[in-house]
Parts: sequence; structure tokens; C-alpha cells
Amino acid sequence: MQPVDLIIFGASGDLSARKLFPALFQLDRANLLPTDFRIAAIARDNIDLGTFLSKLRARMSTAMGNNAPSDDEWQQYSRLFSYLNADFSRPTDFSIIKTWLDDQRVSLFYLATPPSLFAPICDYLSQENCLTGDCRIVLEKPIGENLDSSIVVNGTLAQYFSESSIYRIDHYLGKETVQNLLALRFANRFINSQWDQSCIDHIQITVAEVIGIEGRWSYYDKVGQLRDMVQNHLMQLLCLVAMEPPNGLEAESIRDEKVKIVKALRCIDVKTVDDHVVRGQYAQGWSTGRSVPGYTEESGSERNSSDTETFVAIKAHVDNWRWAGVPFYLRTGKRMAEKVTEIIIQYKELPHNIFGGGANLPNKLIIRLQPNEGIEMTMVSKRQSLKEKLALQTHTLNLDFREGHQNDRIPDAYERLFLDAINGDQSLFVGREEIEESWRWCDGLLQACKDQGVEIKPYHAGSWGPAKAEILIEKDGRSWHV
Ligand code: NDP
Ligand code: BG6
Repeated sequence: MQPVDLIIFGASGDLSARKLFPALFQLDRANLLPTDFRIAAIARDNIDLGTFLSKLRARMSTAMGNNAPSDDEWQQYSRLFSYLNADFSRPTDFSIIKTWLDDQRVSLFYLATPPSLFAPICDYLSQENCLTGDCRIVLEKPIGENLDSSIVVNGTLAQYFSESSIYRIDHYLGKETVQNLLALRFANRFINSQWDQSCIDHIQITVAEVIGIEGRWSYYDKVGQLRDMVQNHLMQLLCLVAMEPPNGLEAESIRDEKVKIVKALRCIDVKTVDDHVVRGQYAQGWSTGRSVPGYTEESGSERNSSDTETFVAIKAHVDNWRWAGVPFYLRTGKRMAEKVTEIIIQYKELPHNIFGGGANLPNKLIIRLQPNEGIEMTMVSKRQSLKEKLALQTHTLNLDFREGHQNDRIPDAYERLFLDAINGDQSLFVGREEIEESWRWCDGLLQACKDQGVEIKPYHAGSWGPAKAEILIEKDGRSWHV
């Protein structure tokens, strides 16, 4: 394998300190980085390598807690680094990058910068002849803020990189438990054969966070929960749950199946939006035992009122043969009662119930992605009793992924994604068409909310969102799992 260089733009940023450099450190600690691997950290602070590294170590220690590097490990890790000082809006600054690069090696450019810099960075890399050898580019979400702007970003990338060299990150795809969805669905015959409208009543996907917007008001207020979470993370989960079996595990096969699902999502328009979408915004409340401010009172808030949603619940439909008539209830919000990411597969009632009474409790498959990763299946069995002949009860089959591994660290998503980008495996990265089709659906939904004047309902921080989100599902005779 050709030696690989990783060039991180935005090396002084929050993502770099909290996620990227800790993930690379864990790979180095586990000896999983290729031999002769090099990292160029690029930022606009005019400092030397030693100063950059000592600042980085302090920030990584805060982020990594007990897992932080020891002195020896830090020595070892530091040997990978160079520090380059450049302002990404100044084309001439790219000449130092050119000097550092080696076109006998693979160059992996990682853009951990505001998205507005994606296009100038590509332009200037090209102008300074930095794109000569084998080059790949890795980008963070968001890729645009609507369909039109995502087409522009993707178009710029396509001028300089082939699709097979573009690695668009959705960090949910790097999570171990999200990959486990593929194993659950396609390595277990009995699950796959019961996975359609003939057996399944409905599906719920909940991504609830306890945190608020964590000082990101100026970013978040322009975006909201639909663009920040649904367009990417929930959409990816929906695709992995709903897609047909891919031909294989290569990127093309998986992407082809995922994009068919996004295209099959029924458009939510002005006539249907009231029945299908609930938007909310957190007000002051209690979270993990302390009083927390409402969204517009958060630090950095620029206004007393805002029409940005911090919660959204959606009833979606995938218009294809497998999922005809099966609603997908999606729900995500900030400052919710618990941090939980889970997918609920609610099976239908029995076609004919020979037991009567409580026997017709339908099976439910609960896929918990975080925290307490695992899978539960509710089953009905006989209660041991001589008094009642066939009294039934619900039992839970519990597959706890942590059992026996409580002390093992679950690798962070970025560790998997770095390894794959280094090895040239795109299967856990998002393709252009998926992103653009997802924006098309989200743009339509947002436009329908606007045209119909869908209100933003307040909810108390620390709750499960506005009461209307309960009504969204309860009017169909169903209820949220938590
Ligand atoms: P930050 O604002 O913390 O970091 C941005 C980085 O870009 C900083 O290093 C900043 O340098 C640098 N930068 C900005 N303008 C220039 C310039 N003209 N020349 C050189 N450097 C520049 O953002 P984040 O780290 O939070 O986010 C980075 C990207 O990752 C964004 O696209 C974001 O949407 C995405 N993302 C972030 C997540 C997170 O958890 N933080 C999660 C998911 C995606 P300086 O320090 O000098 O200002
Ligand atoms: C990011 C969003 O992409 O995902 C954040 O921008 C959100 O707003 C985060 O908090 C959630 O990720 P995780 O891995 O904590 O579920």
C-alpha cells in the first residue's frame, strides 16, 4: 500500500480537538495506522509545532478524560505531526502545503472548516498544484444547507475530485451499533424474512439528546434540528432500516439501495404537513437535575424569539412494495428527557388469536444504538401456573452488546471512518445522490411548513417534546416507545 498523508484543515477547531485528533491517537495507540503515516495540522495561528502540540494535548486531555495519552504515548503520537500555518482564504498560503506534500504518497485532505471554505480550499489546492498524485478529500456535514447549495458544493468538488475520491462523512455511519444494523438485517435469515409490510405495523426512529445547543447558537439558529439531524443522521438510519439487501458490501451496492429509499420517501406537502410534522423549541426547564435556559436564552442568542425548531417529529412513508402502508415515525430533539438513539420495529398483531385476552400482544424489536447498545425482542410465552391453563406473559429476549465487555472502550465513529478513508473504502461514506435527494425531501417539507404556517410548539427542557408529538402518533392508535 502507498504511504498515506493526512492533511487536516481547521486543526485548531472544536471538531479537531474533540474528535479527530483523539480518534487518530486511539488508532496510533492500537497500532492501526499505516507505517510511515504523516499528519499535517494546518491552522492560521502563527505558532510553532511545539506550541500547537502542547495546546492540543491540553484540549485532548479534557475531551478524553481517563483515556487521555500518557507522556510516553504522547511522545509516540507527536512524531506523526507537522504544523503548517495558512489562512485558507489566501491562495498564496497554499504554497507551503505544496512544499510539504509528496506526490509519491496518498494525500488525504480533511476539511474540518466552516463549509464556506470548502470551495476556496479546493480552488487554491488546484491553483498551487497540490492535486497531482493520488488525492482524496474528506468533508464534514453539512454539505450545503438546501438542495441548491449542496449541488453547488458537490459541483465544486467534482471539478477537482472523482466521486470515488470524495469521502462525505456522516459520523452515525461510523458508529459500531449503526453498522450492526447491517449485520442484524442481512446476517440473520429469520429477521430478514419478517421485514416488510406483511409483518411490520410501523417503525419508530428516535434520536433524543439531553444537551442543548452547546454554545453553537449562531450556527444552529440558521439550521434547526431538521437540517442538523434529520437530513443526514436520521435519514441514514431510515435508509439502513428500509433498504433492500445490497449485492455486496462495497460502497456502490450500499449507496444504490440507500438512494432508492430516499427517492421513495413520499413528499410531505402543504396539504399533508399538519398531519405529518410537529416542530418544537425548548423553553426553560430541568435537565439532569439543574435548571437550564430556554433556547432563546442560551449564551450567544441574538434574539428574544426565533422560529428555529430544536425538535421535530415526522410521520413518513416509503412508497415501495416492501413498505406500503407502514408509517415511519421519526423524532429528534435537543434538551429531551434522556439521551437515547433507538429504532423500534413494531410487528403486527396476529392474524388470528387462539388464546384470547392478552395473547395478542404483538412482538417488538428494539434496536438501541446509544447508550446501552443492544437489541431486545419482546415475546409472548406461557406463565407457569396450575391455576390458569394458558395464561400468557410478555418476556424480553435481551442481547446486550456490552455484556462481558463492560471494561472495553467502544471505538468512536471517527476511528472507523479514518481507517476506512486511509484504506480507500467508501462504504460508510455518503454518496452525492443520497445527499441531494435527502435535501430535496427536506426542502419540500420545510417549504410546506412555511407555506402552511406550521407553528413551533414550546416544550420544557427535560421533557419528551411538545404534546402535539404524542398526538401525531396517538391519533393513529400507536404510541412512542419512550
Ligand atoms: P470551529 O469553528 O471550531 O473550527 C473551524 C476551524 O476552521 C478552526 O480551526 C478555524 O481556525 C478554521 N478556519 C476558519 N476560517 C479559516 C481561515 N480563513 N483560514 C484558516 N483556518 C480557518 O468549527 P468545528 O470544528 O466545530 O466544525 C468544523 C466543521 O465540522 C464544520 O463544517 C462543522 O459544521 C462540522 N461539524 C462539527 C461538529 C462538531 O462536533 N464540532 C460535528 C459535525 C460536523 P481558527 O481557530 O483560527 O478560527
Ligand atoms: C451532530 C450535530 O452532527 O450530531 C449535533 O451537529 C448533534 O447537533 C450531534 O448534537 C449528535 O451526535 P451524537 O453522536 O452525539 O449522537
